[in-house]
Amino acid sequence: MSAITCMCSASAQIGNHFGNAEMDRFISGLMNRMTLQEKLGQLNLPSGGDLVTGPVQCSPLAESIRLQKIGGFFNVLGVEKIRELQRVAVEETELKIPLVVGMDVIHGYKTVFPIPLAMSCSWDPEVVERAAEIAAAEASADGICWTFSPMVDIARDARWGRIAEGNGEDPYLGAVLAEAYVRGYQGDDLRNSERHIMTCVKHFAFYGASESGRDYNIADMSRIRMYNEYMAPYRAAVRAGAGAVMSSFNTVDGVPATANRWLLTDLLRDEMGFEGLLVTDYNSIGEMDTHGVAPLKEASVRALNAGTDMDMVSGGFLNTLEESLREGKVTEARIDEACRRVLEMKYRLGLFDDPYKYCRPERARKELFTEEHRAEARRIATETFVLLKNDDGMLPLKRQGRIALIGPLGDARNNMCGMWCSTCDPERHGTLLEGLRAAVGNQAEVVYAKGSNIYYDEQLERGAVGTRPLQRGDNRQLLEEALQVAAESDVIVAAVGESSEMSGESASRTDIRIPDAQRDLLKALQATGKPIVLLLFTGRPLDLTWESANIPAILNVWFAGSETGDAVADVLFGRVVPSGKLTTTFPRSVGQLPLYYSQVRTGRPDGNPDAFDRFQSNYIDCRNDGLYPFGYGLSYTTFEYGEMTLSAETMPEGGTLEVRVPVTNTGAYDAAEIVQLYIHDRYADIARPVKELKGFQRIFLKRGESREVTFTLTSEALKYYNSQLEYGYDPGEFQVMVGPNSRDVQTKTFRAE
Ligand code: BGC
Repeated sequence: MSAITCMCSASAQIGNHFGNAEMDRFISGLMNRMTLQEKLGQLNLPSGGDLVTGPVQCSPLAESIRLQKIGGFFNVLGVEKIRELQRVAVEETELKIPLVVGMDVIHGYKTVFPIPLAMSCSWDPEVVERAAEIAAAEASADGICWTFSPMVDIARDARWGRIAEGNGEDPYLGAVLAEAYVRGYQGDDLRNSERHIMTCVKHFAFYGASESGRDYNIADMSRIRMYNEYMAPYRAAVRAGAGAVMSSFNTVDGVPATANRWLLTDLLRDEMGFEGLLVTDYNSIGEMDTHGVAPLKEASVRALNAGTDMDMVSGGFLNTLEESLREGKVTEARIDEACRRVLEMKYRLGLFDDPYKYCRPERARKELFTEEHRAEARRIATETFVLLKNDDGMLPLKRQGRIALIGPLGDARNNMCGMWCSTCDPERHGTLLEGLRAAVGNQAEVVYAKGSNIYYDEQLERGAVGTRPLQRGDNRQLLEEALQVAAESDVIVAAVGESSEMSGESASRTDIRIPDAQRDLLKALQATGKPIVLLLFTGRPLDLTWESANIPAILNVWFAGSETGDAVADVLFGRVVPSGKLTTTFPRSVGQLPLYYSQVRTGRPDGNPDAFDRFQSNYIDCRNDGLYPFGYGLSYTTFEYGEMTLSAETMPEGGTLEVRVPVTNTGAYDAAEIVQLYIHDRYADIARPVKELKGFQRIFLKRGESREVTFTLTSEALKYYNSQLEYGYDPGEFQVMVGPNSRDVQTKTFRAE
């Protein structure tokens, strides 16, 4: 290596976001008046949830506040309750320190946006920023000042249910969207804004690599992989000024992340330059006991010394650190530093200026689930759908005749939002059936049959649907009714897939096909010979091998939030043209997992994907590539890519190269297209991916319109971490690729000096 080399650090670029002499003075003054126990209280973050059931005055949470034993809480719903707890903190305690109030505001608050994985398929940072901004506006109106979002863990294993909560498999796209979330939630003047809230980037780190896709499992990988494939989104969020980071449940190099000093201090603080608050995940200090690493007291010592500031739920910091300090196992300086970070967070939120800043009941009455927010959510949802297949232009559907909507998700009000929407009110959301009926008015008839349960087996279904159960019916009878409805209709829209809680936390699967009962329903409907559209609900990439071979049109709508019904109707009937593109590869078989497009080159590449080659890197019974590649998604129109040109054959050291490609809308609809640019390093210090995304542009073209899309490639895009973890690039030959997805690209070669 390397033309431009700097030791593995982005910190040089990071300004001091929080450096503020006035804040430092204020906090020092406050801390001078605090006892050790009061400082430890600030480090304690219990879950409110069920604790606040009766009158707040008598609840244990209020009592802990009065005794100054907590720095904040999370999972309390409703501004009146929160205001009352805040009142206790600032009016009934000596120090009058306001509380931080957290919540998992993951994809909206009352107005619900699509799940994050779906949002990423918009490839549209503006849309992501806008959704986060609305979520912040609503949450802040209801007492919340801190969200445990965004989740930026790269995820490449569809068995892992939490793949639904992130931005997919690619670090470049993940980094762009991580920044957009931070900007949207925090705005640019958090202290003086009532409508923005603090972020908490999670889960640090590598949680997305949970072994075998089983949640809470270990994540074990080389430094090379960490630096090149997983780190960019965390770095980007930190650079964007994220106020907090949450450590992850998994171990890193054998040590639970919560107590991993290399991870939390050497990497996050010293190398990435993170200056905000570091909080644990839910009881993860307590879980170090079950990890078999340390009982609570020692775990608390290890977590604090590793760099953790705030203890979510375990109570270990509050209850054991005083004794550990006496025993010399922790220092007062480290406790002070952690306490200072909690107080700084409150300062940056403007809570010392006005502790009731986020507690304005009049805002909660007016600013939640507004018509304006819902219209935005509907528009945004339509950008996240991915059209996987559309034989003979079957979609959009015409508003005519008799349309059979069939499937357990067709009329399932409580299952439209996907995981993490404990703050929303599903009874106020429309169903798909209502959305389709409203869209066709009296021009067509929409008839509905449930068709099947989620699973045949009742117990399996109970686990899968969690807190959002669907009314079960008799398996045989449901199918018969559906076939009857289908027989009397002109076209079938099959609304099937996963139910809401089959993805998200603690929702791992080993069979990633559409659940059995629905698969059989789909087969029976297909056998009728009627035209059929598959409207796919899912929180993860599924194995759609059978569906892609047998169903003519497949529209993946993920979980699209509170406006699902209308948004799906908008796209189904062509009011909006779909433009989403996959951010995770859809596999052909669960056996391929983990699967992602940016595979590192092996010494034995698969020469012929259609046949098994012994002693090459391939399978006897399956191709290597996915069924639907990363970046893939169709439109109702067609786009033609002209020949790519480069401004030069050589990129001089420190210089740039322009990559141009003409794109023409050759079909019958005005529509958006996402043009993608990938590179490949021909020879490098370490084996490198076959291609890596380095740029994309979302463009809008009217029918017949052409545009030349230009990307400016800089040497920054060529850099990676080499075997010595030095960041730079190797001068020499590179390939640049442009196309509508990661598979269908054209390639040119250039040299970098
Ligand atoms: C999850 C986090 C979440 C936290 C608080 C944990 O179980 O892993 O993502 O923020 O709970 O609800």
